[in-house]
Amino acid sequence: MEPVYLDNAATTKVDKEVLKAMAPYFDEFYGNASSMHVKGQEAKKAVEKARETIARAINAKLEEIYFTSGGTESNNWALKGAFFENFPKKNHIVTVKTEHDCILNTAKWLEGKGAKVTYLDVDKEGFINIEKLKKAITPKTFLVSVMQANNEIGTIQNLEEIGNICRERKILFHTDAAQSFTKIPLDVKRMNLNLVTINAHKVYGPKGVGALFIREGVKITPLLHGGGHERGQRSGTENVPGIIGFGKAVEISGKTDYKKMSALRDKLIKWIIEKIPDSKLNGPVGDKRLPNNVNITFKGCEGEALGGYLENKNIYVSTGSACMSNTNAQSHVLAAIGLSREEQESSIRFTLGKETTEKNIDYVMKVLSEIIEKMRTAGKIKNG
Ligand SMILES: Cc1ncc(COP(=O)(O)O)c(C=O)c1O
Repeated sequence: MEPVYLDNAATTKVDKEVLKAMAPYFDEFYGNASSMHVKGQEAKKAVEKARETIARAINAKLEEIYFTSGGTESNNWALKGAFFENFPKKNHIVTVKTEHDCILNTAKWLEGKGAKVTYLDVDKEGFINIEKLKKAITPKTFLVSVMQANNEIGTIQNLEEIGNICRERKILFHTDAAQSFTKIPLDVKRMNLNLVTINAHKVYGPKGVGALFIREGVKITPLLHGGGHERGQRSGTENVPGIIGFGKAVEISGKTDYKKMSALRDKLIKWIIEKIPDSKLNGPVGDKRLPNNVNITFKGCEGEALGGYLENKNIYVSTGSACMSNTNAQSHVLAAIGLSREEQESSIRFTLGKETTEKNIDYVMKVLSEIIEKMRTAGKIKNG
């Protein structure tokens, strides 16, 4: 059996069309996009085309897109940049307990610099409570940061509703859309977004490139100082091949059949819940869940061991978030939706990609039924 890669939330395979588009920018059009000569200008032209494609995808203007090294940098920049622009007049941030570590750890770091941060709770499916968000806002609040979709359990928040509140209260609204970009609609105008994080390697583009949307008129302090690239906001020679690849990945993203992906997702969920006793879905069902995400707790099965057994059968999955470098399988997201430590450690995330086939899912189901039974029988024998 060929490898069945079900860890597309960690990263995706670079699309062949993307690779093809990038290749000439390594050795043919290798100019520095800031150089005035023709070599530089051909690189710059291609960078601006990519910027336009990406801007159009989120209903932004091209001058509102700033290229970065990825989601982590964009999230750091959004929070730190907004903080240093507003501090000490305003110092309060509202975010959520289930955000990615690069938001939570940035928020924690800012607390050391004088920020006050409210970490909103979520319900059992990972949704925030809008009334609690409203109550959390104080006259000192300058930023609300809520991810569009969760990387572990796929919960999609209602950004339009949050955006309306931020507009009324005149507070900046940031979203981390690293997992949702191109999968579900993201419209910076309709959702009243001021800052948006996106990256390329979750959408069949290269690693190490991303962008931050900064609404025209919004001022945030630069993170990197230097030669004044990206209109003085983000210095550093542009990663031209990476940016070209990002643009191409977004350009072709409309070809991905997310209806088919959701159907495969639901087939796997339904089969697991019906056929594997003591299995539980984490996160919501239906269109409030990312089309590629399946997160299951298999009671009594250690997640890391299960991941290892699946790997032996050429199936690649993840326990929690691949972006967490900690080695144990505990998850702040699963904890926030109420799972015990044991349940967190018995959970597995399958994330489908555009190349996932029905045959792949059938194979996973067959392997899962054998492995879970073996693991549980072995567990019973061990525990007497
Ligand atoms: C929701 C979310 N935000 C941010 C990131 C970080 O992005 P990057 O890997 O481009 O730094 C990730 C990566 O997994 C993510 O899932």
